[in-house]
Amino acid sequence: MKIEKVAILGAGTMGSGIAHVVAQSGYQVIIRDISQEFLDKGLKTIRKNLERGLKKGRITEEEIDTIMKRIQTTIDLENAVKDADLVIEAIPEKLELKLGTFNELNKFTKPEAILASNTSSISITKLASETSKPDKVLGLHFFNPAPVMKLVEVIRGEKTSDETMNVAIDFAKSLGKTPVRVKEFPGFIVNKVLITAINEAIDTYERGIASAEDIDTAMKLGCNWPMGPLELADYIGLDVVLDISKVLKENIKDFNYRVPKILEELVSQGKLGRKTGEGFYKY
Ligand code: CAA
Repeated sequence: MKIEKVAILGAGTMGSGIAHVVAQSGYQVIIRDISQEFLDKGLKTIRKNLERGLKKGRITEEEIDTIMKRIQTTIDLENAVKDADLVIEAIPEKLELKLGTFNELNKFTKPEAILASNTSSISITKLASETSKPDKVLGLHFFNPAPVMKLVEVIRGEKTSDETMNVAIDFAKSLGKTPVRVKEFPGFIVNKVLITAINEAIDTYERGIASAEDIDTAMKLGCNWPMGPLELADYIGLDVVLDISKVLKENIKDFNYRVPKILEELVSQGKLGRKTGEGFYKY
């Protein structure tokens, strides 16, 4: 199957980052969000990030305009997905919201269209069970910032077909990414490992073993991480880290997992990291 038109649901950090990469790779893109304000903000972010290459001479104004022209926006879900060969869902990480969306995608998409979720940890099989074509449903998990990070986890649900996996692998490669095949499991590969490590760093901070700065310095200089774990948690968003932590805790039964209290406290105070100006650090 040839992919030409890609619909992306959600114009937030991940949705706009994915739209940036997909449009830059030559595909026609339509982004759908629930308000024009979110869509305009997403487009602004894409242009701003494309412009990073201007000063370094890696991209011209004309090339940026060409890429931006490949991106349409809409608030109408049916209109967004009816002609799409591939839909990539990047809406908030709430199970009910995603289930409802896959139910609607089943009604509005072409029978042969592939339906992908950028979920960080929710079961692909559960999402696929909302549709009459679970063989066409899979996970395509990008990493933030999507234009920079090379990895895409390609996640197979119980009924995902080999053909769907292969089309998705080729699609990820066509974006210049390196795909890895993953069997469905809470957190897949990266978040199972990363969110556990971040929570260990938060636990280290909570116990007063070291300051936030020293924990981050230790992991940057001791393990060559580009960002320390607390800085990275702020970058990902503490609400997202908490949501994924809960999925890991609730769904991996023999995993002795503790969600740090301070993580829940910061989220309940609206201190979600960089996006709100405060998390483990002030911005
Ligand atoms: N869009 C486009 N380009 C971007 C960008 C963005 N949003 N952010 C940074 N860049 C580019 C910069 O322009 C720069 O490009 P050049 O090298 O061509 O000049 C390059 O990336 C490096 O950026 P900076 O020089 O500004 O800063 P840096 O060297 O400190 O790198 C970083 C920034 C790439 C974010 C780096 O700190 C890093 O890799 N951090 C770790 C990120 C990470 O772990 N992400 C995964 C999070 S987990 C996740 O996403 C999954 C989930 O489900 C939660």
